Amino acid sequence: MKTQVAIIGAGPSGLLLGQLLHNAGIDNVIVERQSPEYVLGRIRAGVLEQGMVDLLREAGASQRMDQEGLVHDGFELAFNGRCERIDLKELTGGKTVMVYGQTEVTRDLMEARQASGATTFYSVPDVQLHELKGEKPYLTFTLNGETVRLDCDHIAGCDGFHGVARKSIPQGVLTEFERVYPFGWLGVLADTPPVNEELIYANHQRGFALCSMRSPTRTRYYVQVGAEEKVEDWSDQRFWDELKSRLPAETAERLITGPSIEKSVAPLRSYVVEPMQYGHLFLVGDAAHIVPPTGAKGLNLAASDVSTLYRILLNVYCEGRHELLERYSQVCLRRIWKAERFSWWMTSMLHRFPDTDAFSRRIQQTELDYFVSSEAGRKTIAENYVGLPYEPIE
Ligand code: APR
Ligand code: PHB
Repeated sequence: MKTQVAIIGAGPSGLLLGQLLHNAGIDNVIVERQSPEYVLGRIRAGVLEQGMVDLLREAGASQRMDQEGLVHDGFELAFNGRCERIDLKELTGGKTVMVYGQTEVTRDLMEARQASGATTFYSVPDVQLHELKGEKPYLTFTLNGETVRLDCDHIAGCDGFHGVARKSIPQGVLTEFERVYPFGWLGVLADTPPVNEELIYANHQRGFALCSMRSPTRTRYYVQVGAEEKVEDWSDQRFWDELKSRLPAETAERLITGPSIEKSVAPLRSYVVEPMQYGHLFLVGDAAHIVPPTGAKGLNLAASDVSTLYRILLNVYCEGRHELLERYSQVCLRRIWKAERFSWWMTSMLHRFPDTDAFSRRIQQTELDYFVSSEAGRKTIAENYVGLPYEPIE
């Protein structure tokens, strides 16, 4: 088998890249370890920056998002008995975010790919990468009991944090940067109306809490818990009681509870690998970086990597500008580190750390107070939250 771009992973990164390339006439094949049902069963974040919204439109996979997605002009920060609104639209000269679940983004992209007729192999457990530095790179994997070879010009490693692509780069090439936080998020999905029209991020003495949503009838709420916490120890009742205890009193009173549809604990981690390319292999999305979910940047960073690789490949295939390939990692990393910084900062500002003494707590409250009380501070939060601009490929 032969293609121009071999894509490993059918998460949002792989599917979005595949769709953009296909629409531009660049042939690609996606190889995914899991089944489509498994991929769609993962519940992830749900706030899209304008850049990602535009990219989904460019990919022709935005119809349902444009109908059902919720445009949010702002969000709330609750701390120290106060609730302060960050007016994204006003502070950024008109920019907003789109609340639309990652699961739905993935479903829309899967449907678009199916309709396009492009090739995707699901449930392929043993992808291997070969000749990354050679003239002719290729993948091998098993299909219906037979070993298949997929020859290609380029490989996009869109296979997430636990994927095979990053691990196929020889030792000594990559430098890893990592911070693991001493807590996790317990998330609950429920068919209840959102407690507030906009998201509420709450800093509370008992720990962080977040009120988010998927639609006018479906909510996603989180509370900070210990990193080792077991989801079995959290009955719905215990979760709702804990969430309410961390929200402003009048918000807690309004909160409508209900049975959970999904409940899970996620660890919080910051991670970046440099460089994001090796020979003909390009790492995209979670394969190269992880952010803690506090700034809602994970999916959006995947989208900006996709945009960068897509625009470079377009120039390579249409204009013969092969020299641009060398720039992929540098261009991506500039934006990634800024989002890493913002996600780390939001996490530091909003969570309770095990070693937080009385002094650190006052500093944290003062930092929040300073940022929301100053126009410059609110602008800084807003411009990062809506997403920093994509760097053009020239
Ligand atoms: N072979 C083939 N596919 C693989 C392999 C492998 N060895 N290992 C992993 N995969 C697949 C996974 O099953 C998954 O479907 O790669 C896909 C990676 O998808 P994600 O983990 O969702 O990563 P990505 O597409 O980069 O999406 C970015 O944004 O909100 C964040 O972390 C969140 O998933 C999210 C991400
Ligand atoms: C979510 O809706 O799951 C969500 C929203 C905002 C975040 C993180 C998660 O910062």
